[in-house]
Amino acid sequence: MSVIGDNLERLFSLKGKAIVMTGAAGGIGSILARGLAAAGGSLALCDLREDEVRKLAGEIEGAAGFGVDVLDAGSIQKCVDAAVAALGRIDVLINCAGINRREGILDVAEATYDRIMGINLKGVFMMCQAVGRHMVRQGGGNVINIGSHNDEDMLGGCSVYGATKSGVIALTRAMAVEWAQHRIRANAISPGHILTPLTAVTWEHPTRSVWLRDRIAMRRPGKPEELVGICVMLASDASSYMTGQAYHVDGGCLCGGDPWDFDTQYKADRSAMPLS
Ligand SMILES: NC(=O)c1ccc[n+]([C@@H]2O[C@H](COP(=O)([O-])OP(=O)(O)OC[C@H]3O[C@@H](n4cnc5c(N)ncnc54)[C@H](O)[C@@H]3O)[C@@H](O)[C@H]2O)c1
Repeated sequence: MSVIGDNLERLFSLKGKAIVMTGAAGGIGSILARGLAAAGGSLALCDLREDEVRKLAGEIEGAAGFGVDVLDAGSIQKCVDAAVAALGRIDVLINCAGINRREGILDVAEATYDRIMGINLKGVFMMCQAVGRHMVRQGGGNVINIGSHNDEDMLGGCSVYGATKSGVIALTRAMAVEWAQHRIRANAISPGHILTPLTAVTWEHPTRSVWLRDRIAMRRPGKPEELVGICVMLASDASSYMTGQAYHVDGGCLCGGDPWDFDTQYKADRSAMPLS
């Protein structure tokens, strides 16, 4: 291999790293799983939809699939034990399972609140506790939580979801602070507006899609594939001094979106900008 290739391999390779991921059967999780495996990682893929995650694992070399319900502490412990038995250790935990239900604050039923909180925040906490115990015993580890644009900014109908994702970032910082002494790092990836089967309906919507594009400097949704690079970097030794941060991958959404029309000599033909 070339010198550049050797250096990249040393920095970014996931060879020998045992990775557990929840929500692995989902639109984002399944693409991250393929990307992490391509970088050399050994994977325990976990999801509520056990059949789908086992099928996915069957298509990826070095992966095994496990059912888990992150609402259930017993199910989490069983899944983590099975992952440790399969992989021998856990170097990286990726918490990707998450749900949303768009409703106004006054419309949210208590059961809906409990379910979104339970999966998105308590579930992440319980997974981190169960895996964190192994990592402390092992003498090191690495946690990657999936946040959201809504952990910083807000959309209507996302009150509970946004609160869970802001909570996930607070939890990420807490782990970075408490667990650095055990050589455990913790970071978050906060995706912007990503096009997945679940969000396709928004991107096809006549007014919402226009509203969204105006708020994204790059004027297009992200692809799940565009989250793979940061995920490999955070999982690898390339990020060895990075902990306690949330990295927004959003095509320029939080920074201000697409500006209103202003006079300049170097205006591009925006009608020529790709929309996908
Ligand atoms: N799609 C986006 O635009 C977007 C943007 C920002 C953040 N996110 C976050 O990215 C993550 C993945 O989202 P996605 O778009 O792939 O959604 P998705 O619905 O395709 O995937 C979520 C996965 O979580 C699993 N899951 C749900 N409840 C579970 C439970 N109780 N126990 C275990 N697994 C459970 C589902 O079965 C599913 O496979 C979520 O945390 C989401 O909040 C997505």
